[in-house]
Amino acid sequence: EDFFRTGQDLKGKNVLVTGGPTHEPIDPVRFIGNHSSGKMGIALAREMASRGASVTLVLGPVAERPSLPGIEVVPVLTAAEMYEACIGRWGASDIGIMAAAVADYTPVQVAAEKVKKQQSTWSLELTKTQDILQELGRQKRKDQFLVGFALETREEKAYALSKLESKNADLIVLNSLRDQGAGFGFDTNKITIFDRQGSEWSFELKTKEAVARDIADTLVRALGAK
Ligand code: CTP
Ligand code: CA
Repeated sequence: EDFFRTGQDLKGKNVLVTGGPTHEPIDPVRFIGNHSSGKMGIALAREMASRGASVTLVLGPVAERPSLPGIEVVPVLTAAEMYEACIGRWGASDIGIMAAAVADYTPVQVAAEKVKKQQSTWSLELTKTQDILQELGRQKRKDQFLVGFALETREEKAYALSKLESKNADLIVLNSLRDQGAGFGFDTNKITIFDRQGSEWSFELKTKEAVARDIADTLVRALGAK
């Protein structure tokens, strides 16, 4: 398969990738998180690097941190840390790929001490996190290219297209959670990619490495057409 690859088609490009979940602390021992393994972001970082790009991977807390030779890994914990890491690097980036499952809400207050169980119910006050993709989209220059993801369980296409538009991305990758074996906790994904000209590309269920290849191929073609 590599025989047909174009090779170093991203040489000289600075690529910013996010991956993994974020953890939002509640107290010193607890957090709000999600099931993201970080595998999609890691596969994308590797794929972009293999095509000659200089890759920075802003990576949330994942169980397995593989060694990633040639890739600058910036480990972060919270959505706020991921936001800061990305905003600071976006100006020097040519391409952004936001594959992280960023927490949408974070506790208003972090308890300094472990919260003891007392009441039979416990309500936590949460506040919205800043949307990294949306902010990068807002700051995006004409020479920059931005890829977002959309994780949906219903009305997939409509929500994906509205995210493409509202976050000013160039491509949006819809992750189908409806298919068996796709998404969180699996090594495979089933994606559809949408662009702003109304094109869409649907792919079969495949390994996250193969999905990363499809995303990179689509991105390189869209870059050439931009
Ligand atoms: N995203 C982000 N920062 C956030 C939340 C989301 O950068 N605080 C990015 C994700 O990395 C992804 C895209 O936005 O590329 C869409 O994420 P998703 O969770 O599907 O959509 P949301 O806009 O957060 O809306 P909702 O979860 O309500 O569907
Ligand atoms: Ca979300």
